[in-house]
Amino acid sequence: MGVIVITGGSRGIGASAAEHAARCGMGVILTYNQHPEDADDVVRRIERAGGKGVALNLDVADVESFKGFRDAILLVLRETWGTSTLSGLVNNAGYGLFNPLASVSEAQFDGLFKVHLKGPFFLTQTLLPLLEENASIVNLTSATTRVATAGVAPYAAFKGGLEVLTRYMAKEFGDRRIRVNAVSPGAIRTELGGGLNDEFEAMLAEQTALGRVGEPEDVARVIAMLLSQDGAWINAQTIEVAGGYII
Ligand SMILES: NC(=O)c1ccc[n+]([C@@H]2O[C@H](COP(=O)([O-])OP(=O)(O)OC[C@H]3O[C@@H](n4cnc5c(N)ncnc54)[C@H](OP(=O)(O)O)[C@@H]3O)[C@@H](O)[C@H]2O)c1
Repeated sequence: MGVIVITGGSRGIGASAAEHAARCGMGVILTYNQHPEDADDVVRRIERAGGKGVALNLDVADVESFKGFRDAILLVLRETWGTSTLSGLVNNAGYGLFNPLASVSEAQFDGLFKVHLKGPFFLTQTLLPLLEENASIVNLTSATTRVATAGVAPYAAFKGGLEVLTRYMAKEFGDRRIRVNAVSPGAIRTELGGGLNDEFEAMLAEQTALGRVGEPEDVARVIAMLLSQDGAWINAQTIEVAGGYII
């Protein structure tokens, strides 16, 4: 198994995906933005379970930093794994913002655009030369692309764009046998957008066929499967991982 990069691997879904991928035998380069200590904890948990992980800093909104990030990855690949290629990339980093459409500012719109669509586009473009034949790219989107949820319009619109981009990436990278899929979580118990309070969680559980909100592991297992050869014939799909949310 090869080495993968997971953006936003310091917390939530990304942290759980990093641990699951490592448990499946993958080397993991995980990134953090503002919480290096959380990323270090994830690396320690991976190492305690017998895997190998390295944490690097990355702001997905800062496209100019991506070439330097690629150089840092190459150094880590060489020093830690004795290789110069990647077998996977998970575009997971993100943040939530609740604001009704009528009051969204241009700065809020641009901030969400950079992290949820422009960043994944140019990060993937920058790391493409490092991706091996048969590599797997997983883009994290959201069930809000299917169910309109008041207060998250720009976020959902950019996640929808990322689902379209997923199909275009699959089309254009297919000649290198690189698979590209989107994983679209429903409500998951993380700190995204300030996390869930009891009342909100009860409402979301009520709207979900399986009667509860999701845990990061519920999504992480699917990401790890798509990164592995078990997902070798899954391509250009958006897979909702939401327990049957509003069906
Ligand atoms: N939780 C849900 O219910 C849910 C539902 C649908 C989709 N999603 C999507 O799933 C992905 C993971 O969300 P989560 O719930 O796990 O969130 P989370 O627990 O809040 O974790 C977010 C992660 O993204 C990183 N991050 C945030 N802004 C960044 C930036 N500008 N550059 C680089 N890294 C950045 C954070 O790093 P630091 O902590 O180091 O700053 C952290 O590792 C996101 O794309 C989110 O939109 C989540």
